[in-house]
Amino acid sequence: MPFDRSIKIAPSILSADFANFGAEIRAIEAEGADWVHVDVMDGHFVPNLTFGPPAVKAFRPHVTTFMDVHLMIAPVDPYIEAYAEAGADMITAHVEAGPHIHRTLQAIKATGKMAGVSLNPGTPLESIEHVLDLCDMVLIMTVNPGFGGQKFIHSGVEKTRRLRAMIGDRPIHIQIDGGVTTETAPLVAAAGADVLVAGSAVFKGGSVDKASVYGDNIRAIRAAAEGVTGKVA
Ligand code: DX5
Ligand code: ZN
Repeated sequence: MPFDRSIKIAPSILSADFANFGAEIRAIEAEGADWVHVDVMDGHFVPNLTFGPPAVKAFRPHVTTFMDVHLMIAPVDPYIEAYAEAGADMITAHVEAGPHIHRTLQAIKATGKMAGVSLNPGTPLESIEHVLDLCDMVLIMTVNPGFGGQKFIHSGVEKTRRLRAMIGDRPIHIQIDGGVTTETAPLVAAAGADVLVAGSAVFKGGSVDKASVYGDNIRAIRAAAEGVTGKVA
C-alpha cells in the first residue's frame, strides 16, 4: 500500500450486526469505506470481549480493502502470530498492554504485517518517542477503549497536533479512534490525522438492506474532514 496522508475512513465493525459480518463488511466497502477496522477485546485489558483469531480469519475473505486489527488485549505478544495468520494487514498494539512495546512492535514487523501503536487518552506521547521508527501508524484513542458510542475526549486533538509535529516527514499514519463524528472529524483532521475510525457514526440508521445510509454517513464524515485538509486526489 503506497503511503499517503489523504483522509481514510475506517468503519469499526464493532457497531455492525454481529450475526451478519460478511454482508456488513461488503456493504461498508461498497459504500466507500477505505479500511475495515476490527476491534479485538479480551475482557481483561478492556472490560469487553470480541474477536479471537478464528473470527478475524472468517472476516478476511470479505475484506477487499485493508484489514486493520486493533488489539486491546494483554498480554499481546503470544497472539501476534495468530492474528497475522488470520489475515490482518495492520496489527496495532497498545503501549499500555505490556512492559516491552519495542519488542511487541518488532514481533509484529517480523510477521511481515504493518505495525501500529496505540495510546489511551491518559498516556503521554513521550511513551512512543523511541519506537516511532518501528511504526507504520500511531493510533490516538479519543475514548477509553472497550465500547463503541462513547463521547469524544477533546485532549486528543492537541495530542494529535503534537504527534504530527513529532512525526515530521516520516511515512507514519495517524489514526483516531473513538467518538469520531461529523463534528469531531474536522478537529482531528486539521490537527494532522489521516485515518478516522468510526463505529456508531457510520452504522447509525443503516443496515445491509439500507446500506445507502452507510454511504451517506461515510461521505458526510469524509466531507467534514476534507473540508479542513483540502481534498487529496
Ligand atoms: C473502542 C474501539 C473503537 C470503537 C469506536 O474501544 O476501539 O474502534 O468501536 O466506536 P465509536 O465510533 O462508536 O466511538
Ligand atoms: Zn478500535
